[in-house]
Amino acid sequence: MNSKHINVAWKSPSNIAIVKYWGKKSVQVPCNPSISFTLDKSFTEMHVSFTQAEKFQLEFYFEDKPNKSFARRIEKHLFELDKYMPWIKSGHFLIHSKNSFPHSAGIASSASSMSALALCLCDLESQINSSPFEANDFFNRASFISRLGSGSACRSIFPKLALWGKSNIHTLSSDLYAIGLGNELNSAFQKVNDSILIINSTEKSVSSSLGHELMQTNPYATSRYQVAKENCLKVYNALVTGDFEKFGNTLEEEALQLHALMMCSSPSFILMQPNSLIAIDKIRKFRKDQGLPVYFTLDAGPNIHLIYPGEIREPVKAFIESELAPLCDGNYWIDDQIGEGPKKIN
Ligand code: PMV
Repeated sequence: MNSKHINVAWKSPSNIAIVKYWGKKSVQVPCNPSISFTLDKSFTEMHVSFTQAEKFQLEFYFEDKPNKSFARRIEKHLFELDKYMPWIKSGHFLIHSKNSFPHSAGIASSASSMSALALCLCDLESQINSSPFEANDFFNRASFISRLGSGSACRSIFPKLALWGKSNIHTLSSDLYAIGLGNELNSAFQKVNDSILIINSTEKSVSSSLGHELMQTNPYATSRYQVAKENCLKVYNALVTGDFEKFGNTLEEEALQLHALMMCSSPSFILMQPNSLIAIDKIRKFRKDQGLPVYFTLDAGPNIHLIYPGEIREPVKAFIESELAPLCDGNYWIDDQIGEGPKKIN
């Protein structure tokens, strides 16, 4: 090892799934392919300071304060990575992490934080081995390592659009890491906004891990995985041909299907809230009345993502301010858009 002390820092965004990953086999292997937009303003910034040591040690700070529960999760993940990165166990890690969005915003932060951590680890690895990766290999490895921390995080590594899971859309697609498809996007999708309505900012009552697990006994699982595969193809075709309406219809079906799966698992659960449904109703009415391509999606939570072309930002913003912000927790919404992917911080 040439260097005994190395500092690295990366900024990595969250992503919003268009076709959802819900159900996994073995170690973060998805039961169906998923496809997502990479976000821009919702990101994690992580600084990792690595010192070679006799034995493993971790100090973890979230927003400048020691955070035990995050530290436990990161430590577990680092131990599990031993097989791929054996140098981890002889390192003292000092990690500082912060998010661009309030932690209590109810936004899934695992995609941005686990991808930021994976990028830092791959960067450390290449410096420890004194063998810089080719850019493609670096990002593929970072996506692979991210996936082991949180499945959806593996898609955050790539600019604009990512596909994760074996699919006949692309010969290079894999269950083990995501691939970037940003350069295949039609010009109609080059500037897409994602306005995130924070309907409720408290932590969700059922974790994604439990949600994935419940798919094992969900009576609709087999047909869900088939529909998701078909939806990936539909969405991909709409994205490369520039068909916003076809894209938007599948986007909404996917979001509602995700929540329908929760409602029919055993035990069943509901993560949408009354204001989520009111917002959905208003969005559909606005789209019909104004003839504007504004569609919605949801993650595993009550918050609504409004997805629409950047060109219609002004009328949509006015609509959000007058009709939708009052449905949000403290009138809070996040004005995000499709982004260019992670950045190394020097
Ligand atoms: O990456 P996880 O295990 O937190 O699962 C994410 C699941 C969804 O956000 C609901 C869907 C997705 O594909 O991002």
